[in-house]
Amino acid sequence: MTREATIPAAPTVRGEVALRGLSKSFPLQGRLRPVLRDIDLEIRAGEALAIVGPSGCGKTTLLRLLAGLDTPDRGEVLIDARPISGVGTERAVIYQEPRLLPWLTVLDNVAFGLELRGVSHAEARARARRQIELVGLGAFEAAYPRQLSGGMAQRVGIARALAVQPEILLLDEPLGALDAMTKLTMQEELARIWREQKVTMILVTHDLEEAIFLADRVLVLSTDGSAPTTIPVDLPRPRDRNAPEFVAMRRTLMGKFGLH
Ligand SMILES: Nc1ncnc2c1ncn2[C@@H]1O[C@H](COP(=O)(O)OP(=O)(O)OP(=O)(O)O)[C@@H](O)[C@H]1O
Ligand SMILES: [Mg+2]
Repeated sequence: MTREATIPAAPTVRGEVALRGLSKSFPLQGRLRPVLRDIDLEIRAGEALAIVGPSGCGKTTLLRLLAGLDTPDRGEVLIDARPISGVGTERAVIYQEPRLLPWLTVLDNVAFGLELRGVSHAEARARARRQIELVGLGAFEAAYPRQLSGGMAQRVGIARALAVQPEILLLDEPLGALDAMTKLTMQEELARIWREQKVTMILVTHDLEEAIFLADRVLVLSTDGSAPTTIPVDLPRPRDRNAPEFVAMRRTLMGKFGLH
């Protein structure tokens, strides 16, 4: 055996995303209105990218293209260097509302998706339990969705998405429906989960502070047809909202939208 052969191969980094010339238009009053134009972007495996921009600029559209729920007019989405064709098990989507099944317990809601994918009942429940612990709901396994607060229900949604061990988490304003206090706690949770699970996270948000708190980079989309820009967030983690660098970053980002 050669010496090289005894060295274990480096683990393959997975969850890398590339957008190539991604374009999408929608019909409006009998004409095609471009929403996304020639978007080129590389997202590293394990990176946290936030997508911000005014209402109607195409954030959800972009996320749906990434999820494979919709197809671009031109261009493509590559995951780990392979073009996607539709939805895939390496991606999980989290929406603003958790969309739990009301007749199933927390445990069964999380285990359900695993069983659908052919995981045995016992194994699915064991994995679901681990994820429910991770989001801090161990004591609520047997509860039904109606017995949960909004923040708790959203945690179940996150546990369900993580249970299938995706490489890429796609989140569309996941904390948008929560009250201000719960939102702050959940931002901490998301930061911790992202760090522990080492997933690629692509997060659409209206909240510029949330973007700075969670992301390595912020993609800014516009409605005026100007090209999207990306802004790196070079702040140490865990992040401190009151640190002068954080406050300065928020000011920079708000300035992009003409806000003060
Ligand atoms: N299926 C569709 N058919 C026609 N137009 C659509 C469709 N989906 C989105 N659009 C249009 O594309 C544009 C972008 O929509 P999108 O939902 O991506 O915006 P958004 O950035 O997510 O906005 P918000 O912040 O309000 O959620 C909007 O003008 C919308 O009307
Ligand atoms: Mg949207």
